Amino acid sequence: MSTTETKFWTIDPSNVDSIQIEEAAALLEDNQAVAFPTETVYGLGANALNEQAVQGIFAAKGRPADNPLIVHVADKDQIEEVVTHIPQMAHKLIDAFTPGPLTLILESNGSCASNVTAGLPSVGVRIPDHPVARALLQACRLPLAAPSANRSGRPSPTSAEHVYKDLNGRVAGIVDGGPTGVGVESTVVDCTGARPVILRPGGITKEDLEEVVGPTDFDPALVNQEEKPKSPGMKYTHYAPEAPLWLVEGDLAFLQRQIEQLQQNDKRVGVIVSQEHAEQIQADEVQVCGSRAHLNEVAVHLYSALRSFSTDTIDVILCESFPEHGMGYAVMNRLKKAATQVITQDK
Ligand code: TXA
Ligand code: MG
Repeated sequence: MSTTETKFWTIDPSNVDSIQIEEAAALLEDNQAVAFPTETVYGLGANALNEQAVQGIFAAKGRPADNPLIVHVADKDQIEEVVTHIPQMAHKLIDAFTPGPLTLILESNGSCASNVTAGLPSVGVRIPDHPVARALLQACRLPLAAPSANRSGRPSPTSAEHVYKDLNGRVAGIVDGGPTGVGVESTVVDCTGARPVILRPGGITKEDLEEVVGPTDFDPALVNQEEKPKSPGMKYTHYAPEAPLWLVEGDLAFLQRQIEQLQQNDKRVGVIVSQEHAEQIQADEVQVCGSRAHLNEVAVHLYSALRSFSTDTIDVILCESFPEHGMGYAVMNRLKKAATQVITQDK
């Protein structure tokens, strides 16, 4: 891919400057790809109605063509422009959780370019809740296809620096709006069947969804690795840091033993642990990713912790496990995908 000159803007989310937004929106209207912050992670946006524009996203990321993109819109009326209809459960979810970290899979009416949906009869739509994303959507009045703004396979970006590292010279622009809030991507919920099905856990938990729409299932592939995922993107390697990541399920003494065994074999070991455990662990590098008592905090710091280790100084990364409830479910889903192996302590 040829290199492009990438434009940068820094925008204070509490004071969204219209001139900078207008400049970024003009590039989007010109069918170019621009990265911008959302409340979950940074997205790489392009006009969802134009096949060439969308092709620019796949090229910049190195993304497999059979992995469909989420369409970002300003409001519910704009959802109606790209779907055949909004079922009752989707109305309830939109009213309760949007703008916010929720993506709904609905029946596509064919308006979006065919590479957005990878030829599927459905389309993923979401109304992001970030002042910069909202201002951009309002300024260009286009539905924007926007996957996470990382090179395919890498951890998603939660700061403009992460985007710069992966995509500088490959996209028309990057809007820096500071670090993102939620830290993991939106929850993807399939609303095309009789009851809602979670295809990807994320910023809205199963517990949150069930309060609004009642019983909600996980896609069987999230629970059993033998099953084929309904969300095409879920089958690919994801979120991988530079060095191999081992997810450790066991107590602290077990984690410390794994570190020491690796060090005895001349491996330099990086560790990702919660604040509660940081003082008790010794390794070559230790990254703290928030408190175990607040799994939302772990989500916020997860991707930047994964990105913080370089193979210049570290050979293997070990990470402690987290409880699989609430936001912990999304955190563990990302860690299991990022890990090259899971090491479990014998009971
Ligand atoms: O929080 C987010 O959702 C971020 C920000 C930028 O908005 N975006 C994001 O996009 O995570 P991406 O492309 O990295 O992940 C999109 C996920 C993939 O797993 C994809 O397979 C799934 O959504 N998806 C998209 N359209 C779908 C469809 N029609 N049916 C099933 N899954 C779909
Ligand atoms: Mg992604």
